[in-house]
Parts: sequence; structure tokens; C-alpha cells
Amino acid sequence: MTDIELVQAAIRAREKAYCPYSNFAVGAALLCADGTVYGGCNIENAAYSPGNCAERTAIFRAVFDGQRDFTAIAIVGGPAGQPVSELCAPCGVCRQVMMEFCDPATFRILMGTGGDTFEERTLQQMLPFGFGPANLGK
Ligand code: THU
Repeated sequence: MTDIELVQAAIRAREKAYCPYSNFAVGAALLCADGTVYGGCNIENAAYSPGNCAERTAIFRAVFDGQRDFTAIAIVGGPAGQPVSELCAPCGVCRQVMMEFCDPATFRILMGTGGDTFEERTLQQMLPFGFGPANLGK
């Protein structure tokens, strides 16, 4: 699985977005150490706060399947019904959930910017001084 293929998987996942309130559709594709890829989309709710981001949908699907070793995640987002044209960075809650399962120094976050282009950062770059399991000796 190349980086471009992971971004393309996120673009496909974005088609499943349920976002009638924000009309902002997000897709994510999570790459596991064994090569498995889990897609995720944002899933909104009439009560607003129960909504879930694309990244956490992908991570929670993977964890439920027994996966806990993750290599990278691709994220794409933008107005629903339109192709992606701008970078969509993961929200703070999603960065914190990544911190639970991923090595911040090596876990790569690929943010699609349209077509086959993307910006790449590590989780450590996106969440400096992150609080994680190691802080609790876990
Ligand atoms: N959203 C995501 O799914 N991931 C992000 O990284 C940013 C925001 C969703 C949440 C909400 O459904 C919509 O985008 C607008 O905030």
C-alpha cells in the first residue's frame, strides 16, 4: 500500500460520510502494521455532539477487529458533493485518540490536498507534548 493508495482509500471512504448538518464530508483510511486498511467517515447526529469524526470511525473499527498496531492514516475532507481541494487536519480529539494507540514519533498523518497530493506530518508534530498511556506507566 503506497501513500497515494492510502489517500485514494480515504477519498473512497469519504463517499460514505453522513453529514447532513455540516455538509462537510470527511474520509479516513487507517493503515495497520499487517497491511490491513480500515476506512472511516464522519457520522453526524441531530443532537450534534454525538457525531463522530472519520478518523475515530476508522480507528474504532480497527480496534474492534483486534488491531492495535497502526502505521499511518490518510485524511481528506471538504464540502460534501465536491472534490477535495484543501487540506483537512484532524481535530484535537482525534489526535488524542491516535495518541492512545500510535507511536507519536513514527505514526504518519497524510492530509490530502486534492488529487494525489498530500501533506505529511508525524503525530508528534501534530500533537506536541501529547499525553498518552506512557504518562500513566501503561
Ligand atoms: N470532521 C472529521 O470527521 N474529521 C476531521 O478531521 C475534522 C472534522 C467532521 C466532524 C463534523 O462531522 C464535520 O467534519 C464538520 O466539523
